[in-house]
Amino acid sequence: MKTIKLGKTADGKEIGLPLRLANRHGLVCGATGTGKTVSLQTMAEQFSKAGVPVFAADIKGDLSGIAKPMPTVFWDVFGQHGQPIKTSIQEMGGLVLSNMFNANPTQSGTIEIALKRARDQHDYMLGLDDLRWQLQDMGEERETVCSTYGNVTASSINAIQRNIMALESQDGGALFGEPPFDIEQFMQTTDGLGNINLLHADQLMHTPKLYGAIIFWLLNELLKRLPEVGDADKPKLVFFFDEAHLLFRDAPKHLIEAVERVVRLIRSKGVGVYFVTQSPSDVPDRILAQLGNRIQHALRAYTPKEQRLVKAAASAFRPNPDIDVQASVLEMGVGEALVSTLLDDGVPMPVERVKMNLPTSQVGPITADERKAMLKLSVDVGMEQAHFNFRNRMRVKDNLKPLEPIQDEEKHSADVDEVLAQFEAEIRKSPDVGKPSNNLRDGLIMLVVAGLLFWLAQLV
Ligand SMILES: Nc1ncnc2c1ncn2[C@@H]1O[C@H](COP(=O)(O)OP(=O)(O)OP(=O)(O)O)[C@@H](O)[C@H]1O
Ligand SMILES: [Mg+2]
Repeated sequence: MKTIKLGKTADGKEIGLPLRLANRHGLVCGATGTGKTVSLQTMAEQFSKAGVPVFAADIKGDLSGIAKPMPTVFWDVFGQHGQPIKTSIQEMGGLVLSNMFNANPTQSGTIEIALKRARDQHDYMLGLDDLRWQLQDMGEERETVCSTYGNVTASSINAIQRNIMALESQDGGALFGEPPFDIEQFMQTTDGLGNINLLHADQLMHTPKLYGAIIFWLLNELLKRLPEVGDADKPKLVFFFDEAHLLFRDAPKHLIEAVERVVRLIRSKGVGVYFVTQSPSDVPDRILAQLGNRIQHALRAYTPKEQRLVKAAASAFRPNPDIDVQASVLEMGVGEALVSTLLDDGVPMPVERVKMNLPTSQVGPITADERKAMLKLSVDVGMEQAHFNFRNRMRVKDNLKPLEPIQDEEKHSADVDEVLAQFEAEIRKSPDVGKPSNNLRDGLIMLVVAGLLFWLAQLV
């Protein structure tokens, strides 16, 4: 059976994670600097080599080294450090929006009515402004709305409007726009290797509400779109959430319940979800109970509370008479971990103390120029197909004939080094090298280009 090789015990025994059981989810935890992100990278790289696409939120930018040499697609909600991930209010749907706005059941009902009313009016709600306008109109026409769709109160409309503003203050508006993202874009392979999809998330780290909403939306999208696969020999996609405490910190109970439900159901769709965080206590108990594959790096215990957490972390493993789990948790070095993965019959193996493998890809971030070069190469991945899928779905909804499938585009074969060399050559050629940049001139050029684009848009 194929396995993801994790590392070796002191007596040289190979410890791995069976690919077939990788959809039973997992947890990587440990104190800061003990090797969690590197372990994540080791696993992500091997999933890719086994042909399994991977999604990972790159919170500190330190995962980007995986792009040398694994096939990597960079994503960024704000569109600056990767391809933008965007959706529409209509595509996001009532459940995700309700969670995003911390809506109570009455407010959720109001959101559902807003979506239904927009559909009935053949009005496609794209962004937060469209939803705001729809809610305002519902307030003004409240009597008719109540008699057609059911009771809607002014206070629930106001509460949602306030939550829209709160989300906007976290730059949540950036998430809405066209073309809408298609989850199929995460499921691509390149020459037999699973694509590594890295979500640039350092800005998102400061806006946990938005980060939580995006992750919940993506998981929910997978749940909606993927068919049941039963027992497959490998997962279809593996999700990694580094710094997972950001997802659950201050999260309302109903959001945690919703994530718990999605995590439970998504397993049978062939999706594995791995949380990476400092302590198991960062993950709510009901979600923790579903994480079958465990990698515990060292913990530090200076306070009584930390000592209790160490005991709890140690007791989560199936005992092994040769290993003093509690002592090991405290004394392990960087890159060492206590590991228990699921055995073939789905039972956790007795815990082992393992020296984790280093990835073969680069540990640590790539440079800004390397990212630019890779972005240039990855920009077309799946975009055209995404536009096509979206337009087709809209047509099918409107009972129109589906579009002709697009022809296979010639694959981008240029190498990153080649693009980097081009960048360097362009910089050398530029007469401005070494001179301070001329902001006024750049501004004027931008104005002219914007004017031309505007003029073209008018023509179209
Ligand atoms: N398996 C390993 N073998 C050798 N060195 C390792 C290993 N894992 C990690 N290291 C070293 O430890 C450093 C820190 O690792 P890493 O960034 O994975 O820690 P972390 O637990 O994610 O920390 P933080 O909580 O701050 O994000 C790495 O840059 C690397 O030098
Ligand atoms: Mg880390």
